[in-house]
Amino acid sequence: MRHAPINPSLFKRNRDRLRRLLHANSLVVVNANDVLPANADGTLVMVPNSDLFHLSGVEQEESILVLAPDAVDESQREILFLREPNPHLLTWEGHKLDRDEATRLSGIKEIRWLGEFPTVLHQLMCEVEHVYLNSNEHRRAVVEVETRDARFVRECQRRYPLHRYHRLARLMHALRVVKSPEEVELIKRASRITRQGFLRAAKFVQPGVNEMEIEAEFAHAFIREGAKFAYPPIIAAGGNSCVLHYLRNDAVCRKGDVVLLDVAASYGNYNSDLTRTLPVSGKFSRRQKQVYRSVLRVMRAMIQACVPGKLHREWQKEAEAMIQEELLKLGLLKPRDIRNQDPKNPALKRYFMHGLGHVLGLDVHDVGFMSEPFAPGWVLTVEPGIYIPEEGFGVRLENDVLVTEKGPVDLMADIPVEPEEVEALMNGAGGRKARPR
Ligand code: GLY
Ligand code: MN
Ligand code: MN
Repeated sequence: MRHAPINPSLFKRNRDRLRRLLHANSLVVVNANDVLPANADGTLVMVPNSDLFHLSGVEQEESILVLAPDAVDESQREILFLREPNPHLLTWEGHKLDRDEATRLSGIKEIRWLGEFPTVLHQLMCEVEHVYLNSNEHRRAVVEVETRDARFVRECQRRYPLHRYHRLARLMHALRVVKSPEEVELIKRASRITRQGFLRAAKFVQPGVNEMEIEAEFAHAFIREGAKFAYPPIIAAGGNSCVLHYLRNDAVCRKGDVVLLDVAASYGNYNSDLTRTLPVSGKFSRRQKQVYRSVLRVMRAMIQACVPGKLHREWQKEAEAMIQEELLKLGLLKPRDIRNQDPKNPALKRYFMHGLGHVLGLDVHDVGFMSEPFAPGWVLTVEPGIYIPEEGFGVRLENDVLVTEKGPVDLMADIPVEPEEVEALMNGAGGRKARPR
């Protein structure tokens, strides 16, 4: 792994918190994600299973975590099953976790090899009454392939149909949405690396550069710090800035245009999520600045609204009301557009058609119950935008915010966002003028 070791007390505490939510006489099984096939004999890069990581810190493929807090045999109360290292594996895939390393990483004392799993599972199934298995219950998940967890659910229920089965996902959502101080530190570290990438990229932007070259600047800043892209970067110049999920990143940035950068780092599997919109030539036009200031006012107000007790849907409505006012000021909407609007599809949606933000953590669009009020420990993104295809540009700004009892903490407060700050950054020492093209 590229990130610095994480204190296993984090994972130990996470397991303790989960155990407190279980029925007596329960078993929990959490599987690693599959290494998914690509073409021919190729595979995709494995994405660690977020629940397995949350509970153990383990990223290695094929690993299985078993918790059975009331098991008669004390050694079976908490077990991590791993691939057994062997010389063949060492030659072809390199080093795999040995028992001591796995214990140091996870805080789990009982490490067994996968070959023992079926026997231990059978012994435990003969003891327990309740079985908690995992499934992807993210509201927006589109799962077309059967995951390792899903295959395990099917097989376990076929073999042991008379146990009482429960959804582990509900418990994991409740646990993961509240970040502990150690988790917040990891998100802050990801944000610091994101900042480095942004500063580097902003100084590089100038007319004539290709969006993909800007992506490479971020990659350089992220990878050297042991981080990676938290999600496929969106580097969208000119009219591309109005395409919400623009991923091509292959166009040339032109003088007079803006370039929207929705790019952030993930460190130790914890994600950050940043968006900034820059003037390609280093100076916003009057109109670009007007729209930019509108979006910035909304972002600032909605950051202040990240307080305990706030409901996501109210927060979204407040932002939409504010954006509607801004759109009137910008001349993009007329009062009659609002009077005549279909309440199910308000006029403002033409220019702001997405959610204001989402919870952030081990997943970029993290798990959690968005119908519940914000609570201390939640980390939210705040990402308003105004997209005007007819004027050839859109502006989105996005910061990450920690909800606390004492009010919101903007984790990206030190990443330039005022339009003058952004211009100064682009034109300052080491900036675009130093690299004429
Ligand atoms: N970059 C993903 C998002 O902003 O939600
Ligand atoms: Mn984003
Ligand atoms: Mn986001």
